[in-house]
Amino acid sequence: SFKVSAIGVFDSGVGGLTVAREIIRQLPGENIIYFGDTARVPYGIKSPQTVIRFSIENILFLLKHDVKLICVACNTASSFALPVIRNNFRVPIIGVITPGAREAVYASQNKRIGVIGTKGTIKSRTYETEIKQLDPKVKVTAVACPLFVPFVEEGWLSGEVVLSVARKYLKPLKDAGVDTVILGCTH
Ligand code: DGL
Repeated sequence: SFKVSAIGVFDSGVGGLTVAREIIRQLPGENIIYFGDTARVPYGIKSPQTVIRFSIENILFLLKHDVKLICVACNTASSFALPVIRNNFRVPIIGVITPGAREAVYASQNKRIGVIGTKGTIKSRTYETEIKQLDPKVKVTAVACPLFVPFVEEGWLSGEVVLSVARKYLKPLKDAGVDTVILGCTH
């Protein structure tokens, strides 16, 4: 029988469903196989070696389902694993850092861009590196927001606790006068 291979998408949890939704919106004719690693979430506080190992395992899982392309929806996996593994598989593997950086550089008027993400993503400085490559004059303010991850995985999307944590995390971005913020995390 004729089988059309799918686009594989993985994230450390449910957050990457927003990426899958956008792929479905832009490519409604494609089949999508989504893998959310809810058993091992969060990736954002794990070592680069662990995130790389998990990413390879997730890719091998998706390849078993005959995918023709893999989208790494997780910013942490895109930061740590993609540069190391992207050329080691027969399918194209794309991440989320370069498109986000590109959008932000186009959108910013005052050349001050904020980045929020996991501890891993911020520590890796991948967004900063990409942004500086596109425009060395941009000032980047990057803040890790690890508590957003359990909030989203628990379905806490509003309320007093979420708001006060958000205010605290985002204060440095306000102080830096950024006009554009990259939500560098699927959560
Ligand atoms: N999915 C991860 C990302 O986009 C965040 C959640 C986690 O820490 O696993 O960076």
